Amino acid sequence: MSEDIKKTIEHLTEELRKHNYNYYVLAQPTISDRDFDMKLKELERLESAYPKYKVANSPTSVVGGMVTKDFKTVKHDVPMLSLGNTYSKEELFDFDTRVRKSIGDNFEYTCELKFDGLAIGIKYRNGKLVQALTRGDGVQGDDVTDNVKTIRSIPHQLKGNFPNEVEVRGEIFMHRKAFAKMNAERIAAGDKPFANPRNSAAGTIKMQEQSEVAKRPLDAFLYHILGDEKEFKTHNGALLKAKAWGLPVNDDMRIAKSIEDVWAFIETWNEKRKTLSYDIDGIVIKVNDFNLQHDLGFTSKSPRWAISYKFETERATTQLLEITYQVGRTGAVTPVANLEPVQLLGTTVKRASLHNADVMAELDVRVGDYVYVEKGGEIIPKIVGVDLDKREEGVEKTTFAHTCPECDTELVRSEGEAAHYCPNESGCPPQIKGRIEHFISRKALNIDSLGEGKIEMLYNAGLIRKYADLYHLTFEMLNGLSKSIENDETGEVRLISFREKTAEKIIAGINASKEIPFDRVLYGIGIRFVGSTVAKKLASHFKNIRTLMQASFEDLVAVDEIGDRIAQSVLDYFSIEENKQAIDELDAAGLKLEQEAPQALKSSILEGQKIVVSGVFNQFSRNELKEMIEQNGGQNVGSISAKTSFVLAGENMGPAKLEKASKLGVKIISEMEFIELIDG
Ligand code: IVH
Repeated sequence: MSEDIKKTIEHLTEELRKHNYNYYVLAQPTISDRDFDMKLKELERLESAYPKYKVANSPTSVVGGMVTKDFKTVKHDVPMLSLGNTYSKEELFDFDTRVRKSIGDNFEYTCELKFDGLAIGIKYRNGKLVQALTRGDGVQGDDVTDNVKTIRSIPHQLKGNFPNEVEVRGEIFMHRKAFAKMNAERIAAGDKPFANPRNSAAGTIKMQEQSEVAKRPLDAFLYHILGDEKEFKTHNGALLKAKAWGLPVNDDMRIAKSIEDVWAFIETWNEKRKTLSYDIDGIVIKVNDFNLQHDLGFTSKSPRWAISYKFETERATTQLLEITYQVGRTGAVTPVANLEPVQLLGTTVKRASLHNADVMAELDVRVGDYVYVEKGGEIIPKIVGVDLDKREEGVEKTTFAHTCPECDTELVRSEGEAAHYCPNESGCPPQIKGRIEHFISRKALNIDSLGEGKIEMLYNAGLIRKYADLYHLTFEMLNGLSKSIENDETGEVRLISFREKTAEKIIAGINASKEIPFDRVLYGIGIRFVGSTVAKKLASHFKNIRTLMQASFEDLVAVDEIGDRIAQSVLDYFSIEENKQAIDELDAAGLKLEQEAPQALKSSILEGQKIVVSGVFNQFSRNELKEMIEQNGGQNVGSISAKTSFVLAGENMGPAKLEKASKLGVKIISEMEFIELIDG
């Protein structure tokens, strides 16, 4: 018996560590927050009943995350703790009783939204942003200062009456709309979408390229001020000060005189949260007075003066009717749960992802089961559990498909990989069509006169089997090409066909793609693991496709940021005869398979000058002006400092920037003056 308990504790410990890793490091959790919290509570319960079996550094006594490899690791001045949490009203009221026992009845709470993102600690010295660290393992975090500087709402310089040194902590997150837009772009470009805004914010802040981070709109709210707390008496007062220094502090915060008031706030926001533009996963309750916080103190993991109440994620129960399998561009096979339609957050859910064979086995999900479906902010709903009480006797255990649903080829699974693959790259229709769709996508060859539907038509007509075939298409082949569509409900069959105009447009789009730069062609040909950033690196290193095709493993891994996995994938790709032939065909069609020499500078009139472009302009767009600056030897910089040579200002330049420029004595010039300058 006690052996069993020991084993259960060890098993739960291991499992929770794995989930922590998935959540904090990979930003790709595989279970819901609620299930994680339940498992953690179960472990806590077992550990307190059988303390001798508790493992050192158990997930119940350390903060969840860990540091990732690629950033500088820095120790926090003050450990970054987490909060105790609860899903139950009763436990919330117990918290209140504990607090009252310790400090009496004369105090107030603050109630704040609990933002669902990732924690960050930002240090300001003499008002200047000098460091930003992730939580990491709570003791030390990743230095992500450069990435945090791309977040517009976080000032690089504080204003007003700020202290010499202060650390502010808060949460970085992504608005739901920005997340949906980013994911749509990822899907269009053949990249894997993020599951929810939290994961995409966490994944973004850990990117190595600052310029990529800047393209993804992150936001932040700050909710904890460290530093000389004696300056302020209350948490609420400290946050109001932080707001006056220009920091993003959320306005939906209330003082509550009693736990009943707290509860009313929670109930209001459980409804109102749907109207916010970002996700919150609960409410944080804190004792407002700093002296009283001090009296209450901390446990090893969290403060005794605060607790978070977490909302239930919206979930529904429904029956699993069938498991089907979907084949993607890379041949990865994804299991899909086909469900009895059910309402969830205002939409009807019929299908949900089952991720891969491991997740399926972990859930032990079987056809006929009643399953829990969750959608919390995610685009694709997922199955998070099975209601075992409702399982009928004798239902068959699920085994993952052995063969491809599209071409019947036996599936393979490489060691250490979660996904099953269909290896029939050249004969499996969704892989063929998927590769061509990737080739024409916006970030690749950008042939927007073609799309998924048209590719399907061309494929069905037997006109294309690989991307190079696009360059053999002629107007005559396309004109009048038709397909019949059957109406699902009426059974009526309609014929749709390409008109002359459509055929002309397609040919024009294909011709225009011959001007697309080499790195995008390289991305477009779809070498596994070669995304657009890697393609840029390879293109600028090897300069042309022939040199790249002859590169050895050693040549490849010698390139900055190219590891074994990518190098092997490039070698594999070019070892296939059909791929080499496709490159020859692209070459013959006149595509750019060479990196173009950088354009010669128009002049060096701006050499050595650091220039800030700000505001709205009449004659040129902001991007055109920035290009002109580079073309004339100047450098574009993002923010005004004493080193800025001048500010190129349009209309509506912000008053803060104006004030800063004049304070530092930085010259401001207009669009007209700028044009005269470079023309002269
Ligand atoms: S206070 C020592 N306030 O939720 C107290 N945390 O589950 C520090 N969070 O670690 C935290 N919104 O990452 C606080 N208004 C808020 C919050 C908040 C989100 C996060 C934070 C914290 C986690 C606890």
